Amino acid sequence: ILFELILLPLFLSSDAKNLKESSDSSSFPANFLFGTASSSYQFEGAYQSDGKGSSNWDVHTHKPGNIIDGSNGDIAIDQYHRYLEDIDLMASLGVNTYRFSMSWARILPKGRFGGVNMAGIRYYNKLINALLLKGIQPFVSLTHFDVPQELEDRYGGFLSSESQEDFGYYVDICFKYFGDRVKYWATFNEPNFQATYGYRTAEYPPKRCSKPFGNCSHGDSETEPFIVAHNIILAHATAVDIYRTKYQREQRGSIGIVMHCMWFEPISNSTADKLAVERAQAFLLHWFLDPIIFGRYPTEMKKVLGSTLPDFSRNDMNKLRKRLDFIGINHYTSYYAQDCILSVCEPGHGSTRTEGSSLLTQEKDGVPIGKPSEVDWLHVYPQGMEKIVTYIKERYNNIPMIITENGYSQVSNSNSKIEEFLHDTGRVEYMSGYLDALLTAMKKGADVRGYFAWSLLDNFEWTFGYTRRFGLYHVDYTTMKRTPRLSATWYKEFIARYKVDK
Ligand code: NOJ
Repeated sequence: ILFELILLPLFLSSDAKNLKESSDSSSFPANFLFGTASSSYQFEGAYQSDGKGSSNWDVHTHKPGNIIDGSNGDIAIDQYHRYLEDIDLMASLGVNTYRFSMSWARILPKGRFGGVNMAGIRYYNKLINALLLKGIQPFVSLTHFDVPQELEDRYGGFLSSESQEDFGYYVDICFKYFGDRVKYWATFNEPNFQATYGYRTAEYPPKRCSKPFGNCSHGDSETEPFIVAHNIILAHATAVDIYRTKYQREQRGSIGIVMHCMWFEPISNSTADKLAVERAQAFLLHWFLDPIIFGRYPTEMKKVLGSTLPDFSRNDMNKLRKRLDFIGINHYTSYYAQDCILSVCEPGHGSTRTEGSSLLTQEKDGVPIGKPSEVDWLHVYPQGMEKIVTYIKERYNNIPMIITENGYSQVSNSNSKIEEFLHDTGRVEYMSGYLDALLTAMKKGADVRGYFAWSLLDNFEWTFGYTRRFGLYHVDYTTMKRTPRLSATWYKEFIARYKVDK
């Protein structure tokens, strides 16, 4: 106890000071959002409390073999009961915003086929009000991978165009109950991964795929991700349409979408590898952003997929014209892209059809750029932040951008001791480098409005369960105790310097 109370903060703080010169918070503009990010399934727990319905992730994690440590988010890190304590931690960091998601099944346990769960509404009201009392702006993701299981059971969730109406019904309720106080809305989180992992490689629910892309015999890895994406794009457009026509004028908030964004560089100077970079970005990013912003799919995808790619009707196009107010960028890592004729791509090397679409799983099969970290998919390449932000700025005409996630993971197992995790210089160097690179992009004209660290606390990392630790605070999963790491002290000092200079 003595160590934790007296010595640890001193030791953390002097180390944080040694590292602080490396990055410059003073140049970020006034009103810049500095926050931390989270999501309902990874944080809340209380999976059956107060009328919450079952979600696709509740069902998925309860099936043996789906999560590497056999865990689930039934309790997660219990934010449902500990949100006041967690808001105190945020206040002590000095952040001015908190990104969290609403659990669709907590608000509508049976989707639009049942009533509104008022206890769910009360919970998010309490959370929002408590944040605002501390001067912390709520930044809400309307969904972050978890969907009411009812929609899956009825018609296969986002495989069905019915999902567009479901989503519209749900977001209307959120705008109505919370929009007076929530000024930032994100419709979807990483729909590019949701479609790929759920319907191509079968790592996420509903675990659909066809061989050889994943080990299953139901689903069709070559078509379903594109149908799901199409429905998600139109569900996004439906949500923006509802917000614009019914709420935005009065509520004066903004609405966007959050994408997983990697930076790709050609592995050689060959034209083929340079084209592979464009394909990689098309299949990862332009897949969603081009339709939402330009009203059409990227040509690279059309060339590879032909008629597999669904069409937009005239009516759809009208909805898509409503666009978005900001692009949410989740950026962690960078990869080399290589033309599939060489060895990187999985099934069907060299065939035009699989060549492009195999890039959907680039992060598993590609060659990473930068310094390795403890987890295989995450390499440290700060310049990737400057480059991806500049790339998005140029392609989409400098629509405001927000870094909705950026973070670093440690790896743990059930025998790990807390002491192994608190002195996280790797995370401090990572954040400091990426923030510097972000600032460079901004100085060159990129309109970036905020930065969210993933994450405030260690939490449930999907397929990896509790074995990946992304928190600025360590969480003891037995006692739920939250303990600051060096990175928490560093981020706090970084934000404090920013405030002094404003
Ligand atoms: C992206 C996802 O949005 C989030 O849920 C996840 O935990 C982090 N990346 C880290 O992998």
